[in-house]
Amino acid sequence: MAELTKLEAKLGEVTELVKAAQAATKKVITLAKEEHPEVVSRLEQMHEEAAETERRCTDLAGSFEGKRTAILEEAQATKSKGGEMMSTYLDEDADALDGFEFLTMAEAGEVGHWSVLKTLNEKAGSEPVRELVEWALPIQRGHFAGVTETSLKLASEEDPDEPA
Ligand SMILES: [Fe+2]
Repeated sequence: MAELTKLEAKLGEVTELVKAAQAATKKVITLAKEEHPEVVSRLEQMHEEAAETERRCTDLAGSFEGKRTAILEEAQATKSKGGEMMSTYLDEDADALDGFEFLTMAEAGEVGHWSVLKTLNEKAGSEPVRELVEWALPIQRGHFAGVTETSLKLASEEDPDEPA
């Protein structure tokens, strides 16, 4: 297996997180669609943007000579960790608000990792990485802001005195 640089490994990690985000948005659609159908179209849009980001990440990984497999395997390793976290957090009692809280963590993680990739690339100076980060980071910031806002909106509709 080819040795990865830190930059390449980080590209693998963001690729994984964007895969996990697709699984998470799907799951939260199922949690929210009955009681909060108004949030579904935004979740579908996030899912679409995550799928597009994965395509761009995979294409970029393919451009690193001989390292595509290693980068995507890095992604695979992070993936099982992310999946475990989701199944622990969103058990069968989970509701829409739990779903959005989980998405808030996941999207914050994405913003953090993309920001780290951006900083690593300031020294590495890869033009295709710079272009991808410039495209993806504002989208991830938008996801984070959106799920935070929806969490707070759902929370404001809760009766805090009701049994949990
Ligand atoms: Fe995202």
